[in-house]
Amino acid sequence: MQNLEQILTDAQREFSACDTLVDLDQAKSRFLGKSGALTELMKGLGKLDAAERPAAGAAINVIKQGVEQSLQVKRDAILAAEQAQKLASETLDVTLPGRGKAQGSLHPVTLTLQRIEELFHSIGFEVAEGPEIETDFYNFTALNIPQDHPARAMHDTFYVDDQHVLRTHTSPVQVHYMQDRQPPLRIISPGRVYRVDSDATHSPMFHQVEGLWVDEEVSFANLKGVVQDFLQRFFERDDLEVRFRPSFFPFTEPSAEMDMSWNGGWLEIGGCGMVHPNVLGHVGIDAEKYRGFAFGLGVERLAMLRYGVNDLRLFFDNDLRFLRQFS
Ligand code: PHE
Repeated sequence: MQNLEQILTDAQREFSACDTLVDLDQAKSRFLGKSGALTELMKGLGKLDAAERPAAGAAINVIKQGVEQSLQVKRDAILAAEQAQKLASETLDVTLPGRGKAQGSLHPVTLTLQRIEELFHSIGFEVAEGPEIETDFYNFTALNIPQDHPARAMHDTFYVDDQHVLRTHTSPVQVHYMQDRQPPLRIISPGRVYRVDSDATHSPMFHQVEGLWVDEEVSFANLKGVVQDFLQRFFERDDLEVRFRPSFFPFTEPSAEMDMSWNGGWLEIGGCGMVHPNVLGHVGIDAEKYRGFAFGLGVERLAMLRYGVNDLRLFFDNDLRFLRQFS
């Protein structure tokens, strides 16, 4: 019985040394468990005289309550500490600056195509599109290039099968567009074209933009004016000049290569001409009443000049150090 106060002090000391609920449970069983110090004392009551029992029992109960109370206090403290730690570890500082996301950018060829479309749109040209896998008819025959015509050799064609090719130019879009419509027609058609060719200035896939204007009074002079005006605005140079050199395309007559003035010299930038009456005939447009001009520009060539890129292959290597310069 003299030990009772000591037991309470021991329990308080052991409980307060616990950091976790597991530790606390173990400490608890040393006092209140089946063979804990207090339980043993309770068992011992039976050996006392009946007269002493009530007082001894009451004294043990007082201590037991003290032990249980200090156990509860410590349990609450551990739970509160765990809760506080959890909150601290999950805290989100909403005032921290965000982690910047790396953002991609448009490819220089795409930027160039957008610029071309914008400029032609501003003078009333619509954008038309056609398939990249073409039939022999659209890529050649309808453009006045029949089977066995030597002009077919001008195009190093990728054949898909006997009847289908990867289009070698954007001119077949002219045919698709004119088949469904009657003049006046004014379109550009930008897109990918394919030729069996690969070096510093040729890629097996590249881009062209086709231009077509068909109406009653459309002249070769209009063609030159439209192309020159476009190039002056594209390169932001009022003094830029365009020169036509006589040439041959089966689908235009007369035909010309287009050069533009650049750094004191001339650079070839595409082909053009007045739409051949046979082509108009193929699509049911009256060649007596209507005439039209057409041109085809190399898009990569324009992009190289505008951005000062000296090797065509850079456009298709996907080297981020190159591409990032256009963001
Ligand atoms: N399609 C021709 C080429 O790819 C260019 C061109 C287009 C020529 C329109 C005349 C008229 O070379």
